[in-house]
Amino acid sequence: MRVIGYQRRRGAERSWNKRQRRHCSSQMSESRPFVRLLVGLVLTATGVHASCPIELSPPSVVVRYGDPVSVNCSTSEIQHGGMGWEATQGGRSLEYNVQHLTWTVENLTDWPISPSCFLNMPNEQCSRKPKVVLYTFPENISIGSSSGPDGVMREGHEYNITCLVHNVAPVQHLTVTWYKGDSPISRDTFDNGSKKPTDQPSVYSLTPTRRDNGATFRCEAQMDLGPEGPRLNVSSAEHSVTVHYGPELSCPSWYMALENTPNNLTCTVEGFPKPETTWYKDGEEVDLPKNPDRGDAGQYVVTASNNVSSVNVTVEFDVLYAPSPIVELEDSEVEVGSSVLLKCSSGGKPRPTYFWEYYQTANVAEENEDGVTRLLIHNATADNMGSYRCHASNHVGGVHKTARVTVKGAKRECPIEITPDRMVLRYRGPSQNAACRLTSAAAAGNVKEKTHGWDVRGFVTFNESWSADTREDWDARPVCTATFWGMGECNKSLDFTLYKTPDNILIRPVHDAVSQLVEGSVLQLRCDIISVAPAQNLVVRWYQGNDTLEHLIGGPLRVTGCLPENGTNCDIGEIRSPLNVSSTISIPLNRTHSGAEFSCVAQMDLGAEGPQPPPNVMSGPFNVTVHYKPAINSKKLPKRIPVFRGYPEELTCEADGQPPPKIQWLYSPDKLPRVSEDTLTVSEAGIYNCTATNEVDSVFYVVEVILKEDYLPLIAGFVAVTVVAISIVFLFIYSIYYKNTRMRRYSLKNPKPNNHTGNVAHNGWDMQFPMTKLS
Ligand SMILES: *[C@@H]1O[C@H](CO)[C@@H](O)[C@H](O)[C@H]1NC(C)=O
Ligand SMILES: *[C@@H]1O[C@H](CO)[C@@H](O)[C@H](O)[C@H]1NC(C)=O
Ligand SMILES: *[C@@H]1O[C@H](CO)[C@@H](O)[C@H](O)[C@H]1NC(C)=O
Ligand SMILES: *[C@@H]1O[C@H](CO)[C@@H](O)[C@H](O)[C@H]1NC(C)=O
Ligand SMILES: *[C@@H]1O[C@H](CO)[C@@H](O)[C@H](O)[C@H]1NC(C)=O
Ligand SMILES: *[C@@H]1O[C@H](CO)[C@@H](O)[C@H](O)[C@H]1NC(C)=O
Ligand SMILES: *[C@@H]1O[C@H](CO)[C@@H](O)[C@H](O)[C@H]1NC(C)=O
Ligand SMILES: *[C@@H]1O[C@H](CO)[C@@H](O)[C@H](O)[C@H]1NC(C)=O
Ligand SMILES: *[C@@H]1O[C@H](CO)[C@@H](O)[C@H](O)[C@H]1NC(C)=O
Ligand SMILES: *[C@@H]1O[C@H](CO)[C@@H](O)[C@H](O)[C@H]1NC(C)=O
Ligand SMILES: *[C@@H]1O[C@H](CO)[C@@H](O)[C@H](O)[C@H]1NC(C)=O
Ligand SMILES: *[C@@H]1O[C@H](CO)[C@@H](O)[C@H](O)[C@H]1NC(C)=O
Repeated sequence: MRVIGYQRRRGAERSWNKRQRRHCSSQMSESRPFVRLLVGLVLTATGVHASCPIELSPPSVVVRYGDPVSVNCSTSEIQHGGMGWEATQGGRSLEYNVQHLTWTVENLTDWPISPSCFLNMPNEQCSRKPKVVLYTFPENISIGSSSGPDGVMREGHEYNITCLVHNVAPVQHLTVTWYKGDSPISRDTFDNGSKKPTDQPSVYSLTPTRRDNGATFRCEAQMDLGPEGPRLNVSSAEHSVTVHYGPELSCPSWYMALENTPNNLTCTVEGFPKPETTWYKDGEEVDLPKNPDRGDAGQYVVTASNNVSSVNVTVEFDVLYAPSPIVELEDSEVEVGSSVLLKCSSGGKPRPTYFWEYYQTANVAEENEDGVTRLLIHNATADNMGSYRCHASNHVGGVHKTARVTVKGAKRECPIEITPDRMVLRYRGPSQNAACRLTSAAAAGNVKEKTHGWDVRGFVTFNESWSADTREDWDARPVCTATFWGMGECNKSLDFTLYKTPDNILIRPVHDAVSQLVEGSVLQLRCDIISVAPAQNLVVRWYQGNDTLEHLIGGPLRVTGCLPENGTNCDIGEIRSPLNVSSTISIPLNRTHSGAEFSCVAQMDLGAEGPQPPPNVMSGPFNVTVHYKPAINSKKLPKRIPVFRGYPEELTCEADGQPPPKIQWLYSPDKLPRVSEDTLTVSEAGIYNCTATNEVDSVFYVVEVILKEDYLPLIAGFVAVTVVAISIVFLFIYSIYYKNTRMRRYSLKNPKPNNHTGNVAHNGWDMQFPMTKLS
């Protein structure tokens, strides 16, 4: 509070007090310098500093303009020279004999009011002033800005927002607080010393940014009148701010879209009011194509404008597309030794990169130039035959085209080498490795990765080397295979044989019940070869003794017990695992086979790479005995035999046969020949029946014996004399030439067959010439 320079009292008391006035202020604070100086002078002049015996109740009051007010001034001094109130409103004149005096105003309206209670003391006059605060406060405050009637501000410009607090006092108690939204942003106080009401403005200076667009501002006026008074406050209406700002345009400076694909090229535009965006290409207004094609590529200018400003941005718009189909690459056919040029080109954005897929050889050169790629084949050979595929690709896509190059009259070989090219291994014998390599001419890069290896029964391993399991790889049929660029897959087979010599070889007749073999019948023998592989390399030969039966053709080898009707594979040419096989032979029997030993030999013929000499196994012998029917030797036994009386004749019945036949003579019971073994000595005429019998058959031979009368001796004597005479002549001549020669016996007998087998029954019947029997 302030003590303001004293005011002249009205009327008498004013002048009475004039000299002796003193300020007794209970609360002295911010005295103005000149007042302090004055008080100091007064106090120094009087030299009195005693306290004034006055009490004010209340010592301070806060009063609203027009409201009543009352302050009780009392004193403990009974002997005083009177007390009174000096005030511009409600002053009281001097009263005596009172201990208290009240200052009362029904309607306090005097803004500079400063009442003072004074007491006249014997020596002096003292006084006290109550603190009186008279205030007024508006019910509302107005708010406005310097932005113009539409309230639009432009970014970056300075504007004043002003709150006007009408008719407010005392203004030094006023505080104006500015709010943006709900947050206090600024506070204003006022040091105007006037006690009178004023219209107090508070200015908030704003340089708006785009973020302030739409923000609300308001101010609140508060008045704090201390503990005795009320706390007053009032708020203005909310003032919202519109901020206009020029566009801000952000676009990628370079955009790559895919052809015929929705593009996502977006520019972000900021600005208020909302700016208009326009696209220009080559100075013409265009729409940005949603699904651009390659013709839409180029430089675009994007303009964003509102009525604040306008901005331009340049966008390089690229349209990417996949390589176009390759057209130039064509099949070609060339002569050996000539040259070929293969050309491949494609258009695309970005420019495609090329890559050729073919079987590479030293005479093919590849060159890339100006977005075109070429392959030049010099001096074409068979190795250049195949397909040439050109790939053109960029990151959008790729195309390829294949051309075939044919070299006339050349034959393409699979560039694979197998060492050894033939392999023959023994069952359970040591194994061997077969290597499958690319030929030296084939570049390693020509074979596709993971394609070079062995395929054994469909099981593929990408190893260069393969080794057989000699216990079971009967059917291995290993194939070395590889897939080459530009050529495809090719392979070579290893000629592989796992062999097994037979466990056993047996010979036996086809029909088990061969009780007896008869001449003229056919003997079927069978040779069983047990567990041999591969059966197709087996050769079976038949022997009789040491001689091959080459003139007899053995039957084909058959798989033992094979039943093709059950779906079993019986083809010896196909089965490579151990088999039991058999061969049969048919031998037309004759008696010369009797006692023969037949056998069969199985030989494995595995070629030059197989074991040498080729392994042989031989069956045991099969002994044969051939039965045949008896044959009576008719040469020794004429059909008719003359017998001279007195000269008995011997009849010998001789027969050949197997088993050896039995000889039996049959004759009429009245005949009494002398029988000794097979020889019959007959002296009587008659029919004699020789029967030769064995298990095969029985044959007979009938001899007729004729009896001659005895007149023959005369004739015989004559003949004898003649013979003797001739004999003497002969003997004479004989004796002349061969002195030592004896006379030989003349026999009519035929010579014996010298090759008979000892089975001929005979009695050594040497028929003597009858003449020698002369006695
Ligand atoms: C003023 O004060 C005195 C003494 O304190 C008291 O007796 C008197 O009643 C008061 N007067 C009023 C109007 O309150
Ligand atoms: C107080 O005084 C003012 C001016 O003197 C007058 O306008 C007002 O009506 C008065 N009020 C009362 C309650 O007497
Ligand atoms: C804002 O008010 C200050 C004084 O309070 C004045 O100097 C300034 O020019 C005013 N600004 C505008 C934009 O009216
Ligand atoms: C002003 O008065 C209102 C109620 O009338 C109150 O909610 C607000 O808090 C007051 N403000 C201050 C600063 O006292
Ligand atoms: C483009 O936008 C579409 C949807 O608006 C979205 O599916 C596609 O993935 C976007 N493409 C790119 C390249 O961002
Ligand atoms: C800008 O345009 C808005 C409407 O879009 C209008 O209200 C405002 O007055 C204009 N301002 C100027 C400076 O032209
Ligand atoms: C923006 O581009 C348009 C069209 O090309 C042109 O007319 C205008 O002058 C340019 N404005 C600016 C600021 O570059
Ligand atoms: C062509 O190739 C063959 C062998 O492939 C060779 O003998 C001959 O010299 C080559 N000719 C030329 C012109 O290179
Ligand atoms: C068969 O050959 C063996 C040996 O080669 C020989 O000892 C034997 O005498 C021969 N047998 C015949 C009947 O030739
Ligand atoms: C071959 O014959 C032998 C003996 O007769 C027999 O043990 C074996 O099982 C036969 N093998 C085949 C494949 O028939
Ligand atoms: C076959 O005959 C030979 C002699 O000729 C004899 O050693 C062998 O035991 C005979 N075999 C059979 C099965 O009779
Ligand atoms: C010879 O004897 C056989 C029986 O041994 C008989 O069948 C046959 O008829 C006899 N021949 C003559 C001519 O009697």
